[in-house]
Amino acid sequence: MSPTSSAPVPGADAAGLPAAPEVVQLEVGLLQNFCEILYCPDTREAAVVDPAWEVDRLLREAAALKVRLGTILVTHTHHDHIEGVAELAAKVAESPGGGGGVTVIVSPREAAAFAGQPLTLRPPVDRGDIPIGRRGVRALDTPGHTVGGTCYLADGYLITGDVLFVGGCGRTDFRGGSTAELWKSLQRLMALPEETRVYPGHNYGSTPTSTVGREALENPYLLCKSFEEFRVLRERKRKA
Ligand SMILES: [Fe+2]
Repeated sequence: MSPTSSAPVPGADAAGLPAAPEVVQLEVGLLQNFCEILYCPDTREAAVVDPAWEVDRLLREAAALKVRLGTILVTHTHHDHIEGVAELAAKVAESPGGGGGVTVIVSPREAAAFAGQPLTLRPPVDRGDIPIGRRGVRALDTPGHTVGGTCYLADGYLITGDVLFVGGCGRTDFRGGSTAELWKSLQRLMALPEETRVYPGHNYGSTPTSTVGREALENPYLLCKSFEEFRVLRERKRKA
């Protein structure tokens, strides 16, 4: 399939989304990683995105919010995003009220990163909804930075991992990366409503979050008019 042969249908991914969880963004570690805690304000059930580096702080935040972590949402399995998954899962299981443990949502194309670990893994379904209490998010299969990259779309915001940054995008020269796949994934994200707030996987931009509309206007990778222009830019710049 050529990188331009499957134009995304505007609005299709966001149609009929469940109510959005509340979202709390936390910068952790020394690589400017972002984690998010997503929670239902009614049931206090919560998910955490890409737990790493500061697990005890994430658990303190969850306690302060009076939420129970039941789900880990993995955007991709680069070490800096999953370094805390096993530790978090173990500490939740040991905690009072943590009896149900946590379920780790990770693409089957990257699940090998957790091989041999005592974790409950579940694959996301592309455009399938993942409940968080009475709220929920929708998984979007967005490969390119990695082979199983997954974004999580809520009604009004989008968790992008290393697919899309504020003013940038993920690199494609690591194992499993594909510039053509990343181009298609970015086109898909740009078909989301322009007011959708973007929560990236790293604090690499001028602001911690952005919107789909702002990125469409300002992000040099999204201003590319063709795949070839994108390929040249992406493969020349090796940062991020
Ligand atoms: Fe990454």
